[in-house]
Amino acid sequence: MKKLLIATGGGDCPGLNAVIRGICKRAKKTKEWEVYGSMEAFNGLFTDPVRIIKLTGKKTAGIHVRGGTILKTTNKSDPLHYPVKDENGNVIFVDKTKDYVDRIKELGFDAVINIGGDGSQKISKAFFDHGLPIIGVPKTIDNDLSATDMTFGFQTAVQIASDSFDKLVTTAESHHRVMIMEVMGRDAGWIAIHTAIAGGAEICLIPEIPYDINKLVKKIESRYHEGRGFVNIVIAEGAKAKEGTIVSREGEEGSRHVRLGGVALQLSQQLKDAGVHPEIRETILGHVQRGGTPTAFDRVLASLFGVKAFEMLLEGDFGKMVAFKNNTFISVPLEDATKENNVVGIDSFIIRGAKGLGIIFGD
Ligand code: F6P
Repeated sequence: MKKLLIATGGGDCPGLNAVIRGICKRAKKTKEWEVYGSMEAFNGLFTDPVRIIKLTGKKTAGIHVRGGTILKTTNKSDPLHYPVKDENGNVIFVDKTKDYVDRIKELGFDAVINIGGDGSQKISKAFFDHGLPIIGVPKTIDNDLSATDMTFGFQTAVQIASDSFDKLVTTAESHHRVMIMEVMGRDAGWIAIHTAIAGGAEICLIPEIPYDINKLVKKIESRYHEGRGFVNIVIAEGAKAKEGTIVSREGEEGSRHVRLGGVALQLSQQLKDAGVHPEIRETILGHVQRGGTPTAFDRVLASLFGVKAFEMLLEGDFGKMVAFKNNTFISVPLEDATKENNVVGIDSFIIRGAKGLGIIFGD
């Protein structure tokens, strides 16, 4: 029997378990491969005893409907920037790729499937360059990986955000309030714009389009003058005002979550400072967007990513990442996967379409 190792790295994302199950189901059909999972990305390889689990049919049965990852995950361990102490006791970062690849081989694995975002796929690329047969599966709720039209978890995040948005609309109406809802999206406004369209927001603020606070004030005032006494705003965590900066919260060093909540509160203050008189309330969805059950679409996408990844392995198509492009599943070179972020094009139809629906971006 040959041995396949799977790892999940970076932030979690609804659909990870469906990928794991998809790989295992497809592997079982070959009767030639055993599948194992390393706990917490590749950390499980280095503990004593190792934390590697055999992914039997029993372990993976029905897991595609569950969020999170049965293999756990971390965004704090990067073999390319591995922290060690120098002779003076200072922490320096070194490239441990060779040690990781050697360890994987020493443990008898013939191939690896690495499920993760751009950081994880950079690691896949480095492992491949060091001679490891590896395949990547893209993951991010932000949907901002360039080599694939869609990543699993994104639809689920949009559904959760839209459901929350709908709830805020009725309370905004009742109190004549301005509601600001902050969603995830560090570099890209995909979740925000989809939620704004689905929910019927008046204002949508995204990282790609710095906003002019005066334009927002004008929009809010006109809504109240027209007698439509409430406004709903969706803002992505990476959005910024023209000339402005993102306010950071106090937070755990090295974690990206320090920014969550910063923009909603900043925007609220900016609107108050600009003399907006209705009451303003902020809602920060945060990690609820990454939790719970994946939507049916994400289960399908993730399951098929898993099957495709394993079929790439059977074909010896290593050093590649599975991608969903033009309604089909293909393999793309890992370097394409990590080259650039897929952000919302400011001249794209989705922006024009949203504007056509009356949503303003503050540009
Ligand atoms: O990249 C996915 C994402 O959910 C971003 O939208 C967000 O900025 C970040 O992860 C949050 O990271 P963490 O889970 O480390 O707080």
